Amino acid sequence: YVIGIDLGTSAVKAILIDQSGNMVMETSAAYPLIQEKTGYSEQDPEDWIKQTKKVLKRVTRQFTGNVEDIEGVSFSGQMHGLVMLDENNQVLRNAILWNDTRTKSQCDHITKLLGDKIIEITKNKVLEGFTLPKILWVKENEPQIYEKLRVFLLPKDYVRYRMTGKIHTDYSDAAGTSLLHIEEKKWSKEICDLFHIDESICPPLVESHSFVGTILPEFADKVGLSQNTKVFAGGADNACGAVGAGILSTNYQLSSIGTSGVILAYEESIDEKADGKVHFFNHAKSDAFYSMGVTLSAGLSLSWFKNNFFKDTSFPKMIDGIKDIPIGSDGLLFAPFLVGERTPYSDAFIRGSFIGVSALHTKTHFVRAVMEGITFSLNESIHLLREKGKEIGTIVSIGGGAKNDLWLQMQADIFHTRVVSLKSEQGPGLGAALIAAYGCKWFATLEEGAEKCIQIKSEFHPIEENVQKYKQLFNIYQTVYDHTKKIS
Ligand code: XUL
Repeated sequence: YVIGIDLGTSAVKAILIDQSGNMVMETSAAYPLIQEKTGYSEQDPEDWIKQTKKVLKRVTRQFTGNVEDIEGVSFSGQMHGLVMLDENNQVLRNAILWNDTRTKSQCDHITKLLGDKIIEITKNKVLEGFTLPKILWVKENEPQIYEKLRVFLLPKDYVRYRMTGKIHTDYSDAAGTSLLHIEEKKWSKEICDLFHIDESICPPLVESHSFVGTILPEFADKVGLSQNTKVFAGGADNACGAVGAGILSTNYQLSSIGTSGVILAYEESIDEKADGKVHFFNHAKSDAFYSMGVTLSAGLSLSWFKNNFFKDTSFPKMIDGIKDIPIGSDGLLFAPFLVGERTPYSDAFIRGSFIGVSALHTKTHFVRAVMEGITFSLNESIHLLREKGKEIGTIVSIGGGAKNDLWLQMQADIFHTRVVSLKSEQGPGLGAALIAAYGCKWFATLEEGAEKCIQIKSEFHPIEENVQKYKQLFNIYQTVYDHTKKIS
């Protein structure tokens, strides 16, 4: 058996799988966001520890076998978050999370000083959510804390540190800091020097499947795991989500609709022509990469709409109504920028819109328009990938978009490609478990593990007539940002 721990933004989830790839157990525990001011988003790392111990304890209590047979543990974690430790490895302040937007001026400063170099070195633009601008924000605004900083970690690295006593990060998570030379797989001395950052605050780098240690006796006792359980580094949640959905070759791309939405494409080699329009990060599979576009408000748009206008209806019932509404929602168009937009605009301050509202429209038209708007936004990422010459093969749909056949067909029509859903979706948690299993040498390759655990449930092909209609609407959708930017 192995355990995958997914340290998310709202909760930590642990899954236990056996050697045949069966999911034996799944359990999660939530923790709060701390939002002291608009744009601030923090968490207390101690909450992660408390809740991770809770889920592990539940796993070992319910487990009917011998805990010595739980061979390995690995992690998936929310990306970009800044955890700061002092010389005694004590946490210096709350972690500042990926969805915190306080660092606009630091991002402008980094972009001004580094120019094109930021993309050359890190293959990404620097965004408010990334780690380097957060470090600079603390340096400027809390100098007494910065002075004590000895090492920073990403969120899952801190939990793993508390479990093993060892400090590391892996390449897939380091890639989201704006401090990693993506191609050389080294912290960038150039960036550190430019911003007067002591390189020693950057943690040692390892591969996702690297064995980093065993479980400290006190931690093991507390959660009921054996001290011999091997701990492997793990990876960023998007990289682990890709592993857990089998995105381990260029044949498959991922469309994931959670609170935010992601389009992710496997990349075999470094992107020489990276322009920062989509993210480009190291994969959790060694020496592979992935491109990724993000819709900040995907599932969030639909749950926002439901909470306000369909409170007493279930999600499936609300969505089912759209089958009677024609493609294009009779002229109603939605732009899902409720909390800004990541790809392709990188604009934390743009806001959403409904355009074309007429006296004909019903609440159900709005539901369809919201779903179409979310899917158009994801299609912006696919459009950028295609523009770069990437072939879009089969899209594996997970999350909210995979729960409903109407939405799966809508994705096939808007993305203009084959879309499949999976029999069992465990996302990043399964990715983390597969990394642990691979680390334990259950499989010769990650692909072999993925093949064993991941099966296709249903497939959807684009319907040409719908494709043409959506193409016209997508062209209109793409003009909304510029027009609404002027008034937002
Ligand atoms: C990726 C990103 C989010 C977080 C969510 O760039 O910011 O997907 O990883 O956990």
